[in-house]
Amino acid sequence: MPLPSGIASTQELVVAQGHVWNHIFNFINSMSLKCTIQLHIPDIIHQHGKPMKLTELTDILCVNEAKSLCIERLMSIMIHSKFFTKIKISKKEEKEGYWLTPASRLLLRDEPVSLTPFALDMLDPILADPWHDLSKWFHDDHSTTFVTTHGRTLWEHAGQDPRVNQFFNEGMASDARLVTSVIIKNCGHVFQGLKSMVDVAGGTGTVAKAVADEFPDIKCSVLDLPHVVAGLEGTKNLTFVGGDMFESIPSADAIFMKWILHDWPDEECVKILGKCKEALIPSKDNGGKVIIVDMVVDNKKGHEAFETQLFFDMLMIILTSGRERTEKDWAKLFIAAGFTSYKITPILGLRSHIY
Ligand SMILES: C[S@@+](CC[C@H](N)C(=O)[O-])C[C@H]1O[C@@H](n2cnc3c(N)ncnc32)[C@H](O)[C@@H]1O
Repeated sequence: MPLPSGIASTQELVVAQGHVWNHIFNFINSMSLKCTIQLHIPDIIHQHGKPMKLTELTDILCVNEAKSLCIERLMSIMIHSKFFTKIKISKKEEKEGYWLTPASRLLLRDEPVSLTPFALDMLDPILADPWHDLSKWFHDDHSTTFVTTHGRTLWEHAGQDPRVNQFFNEGMASDARLVTSVIIKNCGHVFQGLKSMVDVAGGTGTVAKAVADEFPDIKCSVLDLPHVVAGLEGTKNLTFVGGDMFESIPSADAIFMKWILHDWPDEECVKILGKCKEALIPSKDNGGKVIIVDMVVDNKKGHEAFETQLFFDMLMIILTSGRERTEKDWAKLFIAAGFTSYKITPILGLRSHIY
């Protein structure tokens, strides 16, 4: 049989086959991660307090005995993807045990900046099913693949389904806890001297709560859709406002927006930025601030970082009709909204702090 056209040798043929296989089965990384979280494996190893033998792990997991050896296979892929490591149990013993890595420490449920709620959120069938309809979406008129699959937008769905509303908000809050801990530690100066701040589409208020606690002189408010902020109680310097950011934004010295503009196409972003301008008490040129946390896509960040940014860009097609933006895209957006300057500080890993 001749080689396929464009393939020069049998060696090239089998390498190409391996590459395609790797991509067909890439989802196994995500699903193994989900299973590891659902079985609480990071917590179990953490509570053990020292490297854990396979038999100790399977005993605590209480899985069907006939399947306990499959735990070893699950752990092998998780070690390969750097979620666990295998280390000697003691100097005397030859036996090795499983131990945590920085990535699995971020999956511990009691860890304040745990990514477990975000992972379970993104891998829930409600958010993952639309991937099967991506090619269908390219032919239809719906704004997102989520609409193609579920018949309504993610925000409408969350407004109608309390389970989705709760897990989505908790997923966002878990990310917000991590971002807040970095921003307040490394960029606290941006909040200094402010009298008021509104977190636009700020979910259940994780960022605003942290800023309100750290800077008691700042009056913070959180604007989000009514079903998100329903029943949330404020404090002396924190209030929750149910509303629509396309209609109006409460006035403040500073406006904070994390993971908002990437949810929307350019035209809607210009509208949101226009509402921000109207809401700023001092103009941006006179000390008013619009503080944005979002990605600045950059292919010089390394292979895995750039791939993850591309994943997020695709995720925006699926869930929200937005996109991830390069610095050039951001500049275009700010100019269209009438802003004259911006500063990007890449202190948040794959995301940046823009103001
Ligand atoms: C990706 S989440 C980000 C939440 C939060 N900023 C964070 O990063 O943790 C987007 C948020 O936008 C809110 N949202 C969507 N449409 C909105 C609108 N028209 N007005 C106000 N909030 C809206 C959603 O309810 C959701 O909380």
